Order: sequence, then structure tokens, then C-alpha cells
Amino acid sequence: MRKHIVVFTGAGISAESGIKTFRDSGGLWEEHRIEDVATPEAWQRNQALVLDFYNQRRKQLLDCQPNAAHFAIAKLEATYKVTVITQNVDDLHERAGSTKIIHLHGELRKARSTANPRLIYDIDGWELKQGDTCELGSQLRPHIVWFGELVPMMDTATYITEQADIFIIIGSSLEVYPAASLINHAPHNSTKYLVDPNAKALPYIENLTIKKGKAAHEVPALVEKLLIA
Ligand code: APR
Repeated sequence: MRKHIVVFTGAGISAESGIKTFRDSGGLWEEHRIEDVATPEAWQRNQALVLDFYNQRRKQLLDCQPNAAHFAIAKLEATYKVTVITQNVDDLHERAGSTKIIHLHGELRKARSTANPRLIYDIDGWELKQGDTCELGSQLRPHIVWFGELVPMMDTATYITEQADIFIIIGSSLEVYPAASLINHAPHNSTKYLVDPNAKALPYIENLTIKKGKAAHEVPALVEKLLIA
């Protein structure tokens, strides 16, 4: 049976594609207050501001391309069963060719009905406006999991992580829960890697190799190693 690699990604994997991370110096949360743009209360208070924040993110994303790290992960599918669990709302894993992707925190290029969360639509272009409605006539919101909201895909992501033979974390500060707790669900005997230029030690995690470097350099090298193993 093919070994199962679970790849858990954060904003750092897309940094070299030109997408800002959140918590690095110069990151998005230095320029914007989370409580103004990324909470249900912000949406209640000022829809225009929230829509504009995500419109700007979406506009930038349309000019970005996957980098060598995204492409390398897609290449793993030649030999392994691969599931990508990403905290990222960009679609760079999809565009690089990965086929099984779980978006824990939503998808920037999609909109969701405020009346029925099961009604999800692709956004054509970059702009979602006040007055854009679902088929029930309700305002569409960004298809994003905001701070203070449940993470609907968490149970699925946990179950998949429990099946991992190899668990690879790339470019996450591991500060946002529950996503950051996934590593604790990887089997003790699974092989684990953490790729991040600012990686901190994870003392309680067994079989962990830390690669302190940038994703577009470190991930292709790691993938080559795994493909010949
Ligand atoms: N290659 C790899 N990692 C990098 C690179 C790079 N080129 N550049 C930066 N990093 C690392 C940083 O060292 C940091 O550890 O990426 C990480 C980015 O951390 P955050 O900005 O906190 O992003 P992330 O962990 O994805 O945030 C989690 O927080 O705001 C929410 O919903 C948002 O999904 C996001 C969640």
C-alpha cells in the first residue's frame, strides 16, 4: 500500500509567491486589526470594510503564482498518497496540481450565503460587493473562517492526520488553534518534518526533523529525498 503523506501548510509556503504572511514583521496583522476585518463582529459592524479587506487579498492573489514548494508537493503524488491540509485561503496548491486539499480556514476565491452556509459560490474576478446575493436573496460573505468561528473541517483534518505515515509542516507559526494542534494527532512513530526559517523546537514531538529555511528552497529538496526513498 502507498504511504500516506499529510502536508500541513501555513502562510509561509506562499510567502515566496508574493503573499504576505500574518505574523512576520511587515505581516498583515501589523497593517490591519484582526477585530476590524476578520471576526463575525467586524462583519456585523462594517461589511464594507471586511469586504474590502478580502477584495484586496483576492486582487493580489490573482497576480500570484505557485512557487517551487507548491509544485514539489504536487509531485509527491507520483509515489505517495498525499493530503494537503492548509490554513491558507489562497488556491496555490490547487494551481500547482495537488488533488486532495482541505482548506481549514476557507477559500478566498469563494463566497458563501449568509442565510445557508451550504450555498458556496466561486467569485468571478476579485470583487465581492454589498448587494451581491445568493439564490435565496441574502448577502454573500467571504468563504473564510473568521476568528471566533468554528473550524468545520477540523474533525476531518484530525482523522486524516491520524492516518499519516509522514507529516510535514511548512511555514506556520503554529499560533492559531485548533489548527496548530494537528501535529499532536500524527502517530508517534510517523516521520515528521517542520520547514520554517523561524521554526521553534517542538520538544514533545517524536521523530521530528526541523529544516530552518525557506519553503521554495527546502521543500523541493525534501521531496526529492522522499521520492527516491
Ligand atoms: N518559507 C517558509 N516559511 C516561511 C517563509 C518562507 N519563505 N516566510 C515566512 N515563513 C514562516 C514564518 O517564519 C512563520 O512561522 O511562515 C510562518 C507564518 O506564520 P503566520 O503569519 O502566523 O501564518 P500562519 O501560521 O499560516 O497563520 C495561521 O492565522 O491569521 C490567521 O487565519 C490566518 O490561517 C492563518 C492563521
